[in-house]
Amino acid sequence: MDLEVYERHMSDARVGQLQQLHAITGEQLCEYSPRAIGVLGVAGGNGFDLIDPQTTDAVFGYDVNADYLDACEARYRDGLGNRLHLIEACVDRLLRIERVDLLIANLVIEYVGVEEFASFAGANAGSIGVLSCVIQRNGAAGFVSSTAYTSSFDILASVSSDIEPEMLESAMLGAAFVAVSRCEYPLPNGKTLIRQDFRPSSGAQSNDAAGHAPP
Ligand SMILES: C[S@@+](CC[C@H](N)C(=O)[O-])C[C@H]1O[C@@H](n2cnc3c(N)ncnc32)[C@H](O)[C@@H]1O
Repeated sequence: MDLEVYERHMSDARVGQLQQLHAITGEQLCEYSPRAIGVLGVAGGNGFDLIDPQTTDAVFGYDVNADYLDACEARYRDGLGNRLHLIEACVDRLLRIERVDLLIANLVIEYVGVEEFASFAGANAGSIGVLSCVIQRNGAAGFVSSTAYTSSFDILASVSSDIEPEMLESAMLGAAFVAVSRCEYPLPNGKTLIRQDFRPSSGAQSNDAAGHAPP
């Protein structure tokens, strides 16, 4: 889907998600003051305007969609310079990321799947300081809220699945990550964004693709 259509839908007053995710990204950055930042499902770089180049060494953005990464590049290369690294990749248990102080995963776990995401996290535990995730609770509305652009989201809705915060917490525990905080952000359309932060439990190391720690 075209990034413009996606962003117009997500920022529609009835959806309000883009703006809320922007504010949450600001909170994530502010709380952890990371020098190295990773963003999974980076899309057009929502919130990258809030990254302070003076206090940041590296920003790694991962996404399966090369067009979205191109848009992100066009928007933020000037401001972030050679700190910005955009990587076309599918988040799954085989992906190995660069070491980051803060890894942000806002509204991407629904597409990756909870178990796959937890396997990814377990395999990369040694490279993650803190992992801050946002999932959405749909309430009465479907996964995709109703706007003039809704029909473009049919494919997206078909590949995403609803996630309960308890489900994510338990899968992350299995990957040796402990929950450190949780907060909720109600949206105008009755949905709720839920932010959950996790840290690798002490001594957690990268696991192999099957989730087994090295000998
Ligand atoms: C809802 S958007 C993310 C919103 C964005 N994080 C924000 O804060 O505004 C989901 C993004 O995840 C990407 N995506 C979906 N599945 C993915 C996967 N398995 N690996 C990497 N990126 C994925 C999509 O291309 C899209 O850019």
